[in-house]
Amino acid sequence: MLEKKLCEGVYAVGANDFNRKLFDELIPLPYGTSYNSYVIKGQEKTAILDAVDPMKKDVLRENLRDLNINSIDFIISHHAEQDHSGAIVDLLDWFPNAKVLTNEKCKSFLMDLLCLPEEKFITISDREKISLGGKTLEFIFTPWVHWPETFVSYLHEDKTLFSCDLFGSHLASEKLFADESENLYSLAKRYYAEIMMPFRTAIKGHLEKLSTYKIEMICPSHGPIYKNPAFILDAYKEWISDDVKNLVVIPYVSMHGSVEKMVEILNTRLNSLKIETKIFNLSETDIGELAMALVDASTVVFGIPAVLAQIHPLASNALYLANLLRPKTKYFSYVSSYGWGAKLTETIDSLIPNFKAKLLEPVICKGYPKTEDIKKLQQLAVLIKESNS
Ligand code: FEO
Repeated sequence: MLEKKLCEGVYAVGANDFNRKLFDELIPLPYGTSYNSYVIKGQEKTAILDAVDPMKKDVLRENLRDLNINSIDFIISHHAEQDHSGAIVDLLDWFPNAKVLTNEKCKSFLMDLLCLPEEKFITISDREKISLGGKTLEFIFTPWVHWPETFVSYLHEDKTLFSCDLFGSHLASEKLFADESENLYSLAKRYYAEIMMPFRTAIKGHLEKLSTYKIEMICPSHGPIYKNPAFILDAYKEWISDDVKNLVVIPYVSMHGSVEKMVEILNTRLNSLKIETKIFNLSETDIGELAMALVDASTVVFGIPAVLAQIHPLASNALYLANLLRPKTKYFSYVSSYGWGAKLTETIDSLIPNFKAKLLEPVICKGYPKTEDIKKLQQLAVLIKESNS
């Protein structure tokens, strides 16, 4: 059984999911995930903060039984996505007198997603507080981490932030608290890259808003709890900053070796110019690794072969992903090879309307790279160096 008590009157009652391999049928989960839920017992009222994914409702029920939670007054729903809200339906079944406490937007989403009746809700506003009796919760609206309704809660007496998806990591573990290992840092960065990076600007504002609260513990909705909040707060400050590393990320696909050769030539020249590179073969790469590399790379160069005169679907997928994730990358380019024809530029432009990096002259060759193509690839390497100097 998990250690459940976080501090006096505050308990973790969520569930691990060691076997889940994909989130949203998209994001790989190499270490599973957890759906965190917390109970706060005041002298007068009891609240549960978020539920769990409905697949794990039995674990939630057992954890509540273990703690002898026989009544719940408030179900605080920070976020309507079903991995945290799904089992609210069951909570209302087990505790029919409970009210769902959330903001107007989340209420509307929950009514749509879970078909909950309006009379089950109490709505709150930004910075509103409630007292459970010796436990005062303040609700702080933090929209777009990563849906528009998201908010966090601050427990004043225990200086604890319940941060919803913000500061999460996809990690199933019997250990409740963060071990501050390299692995955890990497998983938190992967989670940021895949889920939070598109909302970097919003997060900057939220961190500013939260900086006025003294925070001694952070309880996110996924992954371990931080007793040393600086570990995750400092990491976020770095990731959301405008600073980039002199790193070139090269995601590529190669059907018959031509694009691979182009990537090899470019990479060799970049390395000779003392520029770090990270290369991803898109036919075998984990997109989470690619997303992580995009968090602080200054430059990305896609390697794109033509299929039926169009972009290879794996390259198209990577471009689409980069557009969705909106990394702070400053420069981008592509190297491409075609057999008998290619219409690349227009398609690439249409795939990345939100990708704000500056285009550096791409290199497109017919078939295998020849002397003139090699020269252009080497010139691209020099241009990348000069652009980042
Ligand atoms: Fe973990 Fe956005 O749900």
